[in-house]
Amino acid sequence: MIINLKTYEEGTGGRGLELAEMADSLGSSVEIILAVQPADIKPIADGVRIPVFSQHIDPVAYGKHTGWILPESVKQAGAKGSLLNHSERRIDLETLGKSIKRCKEVGLTTVACADTPETAKKIAELEPDYIAIEPPELIGGEISVSKAKPEVITESIEKVNSVKNIPVLCGAGIKNREDVKKAVELGVGGILIASGVVKSENPERVIRDLLEGFE
Ligand code: G3P
Repeated sequence: MIINLKTYEEGTGGRGLELAEMADSLGSSVEIILAVQPADIKPIADGVRIPVFSQHIDPVAYGKHTGWILPESVKQAGAKGSLLNHSERRIDLETLGKSIKRCKEVGLTTVACADTPETAKKIAELEPDYIAIEPPELIGGEISVSKAKPEVITESIEKVNSVKNIPVLCGAGIKNREDVKKAVELGVGGILIASGVVKSENPERVIRDLLEGFE
């Protein structure tokens, strides 16, 4: 389960660390990963045992790339992986391919996001470690992808598997254990969630509920 803290105020700086410490303290058998802003990687990775991912990296190497996110830098800060091509941080396929390659060189796990089953298939050719299907129109909304568009999940799994056996995750609008259970029944290897946890009045209760959906 990847919890994406995005740039929500509740997930930034000290508040991001508090959320991470709470998630870490649950000692869940389902792996919980936090996708955080680059500036928050080090403090959060130093403070918790659960894996911390960057929300993005750029396909640059050491050198003259002012303002870009260097994969080596996020790795040294403590990140274990990175989201790539998130709906809110789209890149073209060529850049995505280069980004996946750079992550592999550095030893960062890659979760490449796709908006449609067709894109998921194209991304599979680039061989990321995971592919996450997230219909943009459902992100941040009240209805989960697993309930609103189950066919998008099953088609994505089918298309990805026709290229390579890469685990498919899903995200967008996931709020509770029922949404997770449905996604797992459809064949996903995990879920991504942001607002349902980060914007909740009781994130701990929400995470505990979501974890039940994996059982
Ligand atoms: O990366 C996960 C994210 O885009 C889903 O957002 O708020 O619909 O859970 P949300």
